[in-house]
Amino acid sequence: MATVAIYPGSFDPITYGHLDLIQRAAMMFDRVWVAVARDTEKKSLFTVEERIALTQAVLRGYPRLRGRVDVESFSGLLVNYARRRRATIVVRGLRAVSDFEFELQMALMNRKLNAKVETIFLMPKDEYVFISSRSVKEVAALGGAVSAFVPRIVEKSLQAKFRSR
Ligand code: PNS
Repeated sequence: MATVAIYPGSFDPITYGHLDLIQRAAMMFDRVWVAVARDTEKKSLFTVEERIALTQAVLRGYPRLRGRVDVESFSGLLVNYARRRRATIVVRGLRAVSDFEFELQMALMNRKLNAKVETIFLMPKDEYVFISSRSVKEVAALGGAVSAFVPRIVEKSLQAKFRSR
């Protein structure tokens, strides 16, 4: 039976770190749904439609992922979304110890809600470990170069966002 994984997050916006994880997940599972959260506690810079469009645009540059990786939004509980997609795996990235507490809490909460869904943690390539959407937005907002952290289309969208503010 095909193993379906979901990779949920805010993706506000997608970074090279996310992309690295998507590629790793695609090597491990038959199908990967990149799930862009509609309901997130964080205030997002990009609308959910923009976050999906950017993620899709970035993935178009990786033809080997075609047919294996899809992007969509989800709302409500992650475990309910996983059930709808018949996914048994939730993929999350772990960069540093600072990620761990929140990730552990979330993984165990999700396990309580649905024990059939397993969370696995993947580590990005070391050169991406320090990248976060939050810091990328901060650098871009202050006019710094983010080309080492996000694909060109994301960089352009960040510049456009901050120009229009
Ligand atoms: O990229 P992020 O912001 O770290 O992603 C967090 C996300 C969206 C994966 C998480 O907030 C989530 O799963 N939200 C859906 C609501 C839910 O299921 N909450 C219960 C688990 S704590």
